[in-house]
Parts: sequence; structure tokens; C-alpha cells
Amino acid sequence: MTDIKIADLQSVSGANKLSHSLIYTIEKINSINVDNFDKFFNNLPADPYLDGNYRFRRLSRFQVNGNSLIKLPHKYFFQSQQYNSLLGEVKREYPELDDGIIELDDFRNLILAFVEKSKLNTTEEIKINVHQFRIICDSSNYGEPAPEGIHRDAVDIVGIFSVKRENIQGGETHLYKSKKGNPVLSKILNPGELLVFNDQKFFHFTTAIKPSSKDVGIRDVFVLTFPAWEKVPTKEVE
Ligand SMILES: [Fe+2]
Repeated sequence: MTDIKIADLQSVSGANKLSHSLIYTIEKINSINVDNFDKFFNNLPADPYLDGNYRFRRLSRFQVNGNSLIKLPHKYFFQSQQYNSLLGEVKREYPELDDGIIELDDFRNLILAFVEKSKLNTTEEIKINVHQFRIICDSSNYGEPAPEGIHRDAVDIVGIFSVKRENIQGGETHLYKSKKGNPVLSKILNPGELLVFNDQKFFHFTTAIKPSSKDVGIRDVFVLTFPAWEKVPTKEVE
């Protein structure tokens, strides 16, 4: 359980602008038993916006009030062309997370860990998106967790929580200060590990997965973003 890097770069007043003080952090979250999530990943529907049927996903939005979660009404997902060259300007509709997974203590612990690591001001309103993803691969089709390439999500904070890696190689997550430079972080996230980073300071990418044997390979993650809508940065990363 090791914080790799957190630093306070600047003191900014105002609601949840403290998020800018985060660089990135990786931690094993011991209050979560990832096995409890397993059955909820087995019934994920295929992402209808991608060819190949290798990505499966759900999406829900939540408001965090202290230690409690409030599920927010359904809303489409939208990214501008500037931040998603593959699916920018497309209003995407994804099914909501299962009620059963939302009721798990492990799920609540995940949200609270994300909020804590993000250094968000918990006295202010916190609305987040929770994306539930499965990527699969086999010997003839490698799975691309980030088919749009090196990118930003156009939010303040992104969290990636690893739930399962089964029969796969690759799937290494990278953070970059520049799209053309070398990554400043290269890390395979193992089940139970949460990476939280400042989306206004880093681009990110995850390498393709390929199977370790002739069987299908699986990578399950949650991706959490704050705020729950696209945000144009006040200062673009360089
Ligand atoms: Fe992303």
C-alpha cells in the first residue's frame, strides 16, 4: 500500500478546485474484495459504438454526500471531437450499472476511495461518472482498452480501478506529460489497485491486451471521472 506521488502544487480556493493539487497516486484498496464484483461483469452488454464486440460497458452517475451515494438520473455520455477523435460529437447511451453492484459495500468503498485520493472537498457537491468496462481478447483479436490512442478524458480527475486480469498479457497503463514524449508512468494495474490522476496534467493510454493461452483473455476495470461532464481545461497540458 504505497502512495507513489502526491504533491500540493498550488493552493486554490473555491469548490473542489483542490482537485488541482493531485498529480497521481496508486494504491491497493484493501477495503474492497474484487471477487464480489465478478458476476456483475459477466453480464455487461457490448459497446454498440465500437466494432468487433470486444468492449463491454455500463455507465452511471452518482452524487457523493459524505459516506453515502445517490444515484443520479440517466444521462447520455458525450465527448467533443477535441478529446475523442474516434467517438467525439456522438451522444452515446449506455445501460446503467446493476442495482446489485451499487448496493455492495465494496462499490461504496471504491467511490469513497476515489474521492479521498482525489483530495476533493467533501463539503461541496461531488458528482462523478462510473464506467464499468470489460475488454476481451483472443489469439486472433487483441483488445484495445483505449482505441482512441493517447488522450485526455476532459475532466479534472480520472480513477482506474483494476477488478480482474485473467489470461492476459499487456494492458499496461501509461501517463504522459506530452502526447509525443515517453510515459512518466508505466504500470500494470493489478486487481484491487486504484490509480487516480489529474486529467488536466496528464494524457493517458492503456496498451492492448493479448491472451496468455489459446483461451479468451479478460480485463475488467472501473473508470471513475470527476466531474461527471466534459470540462475544457483552463490550461492545456503541454
Ligand atoms: Fe480515458
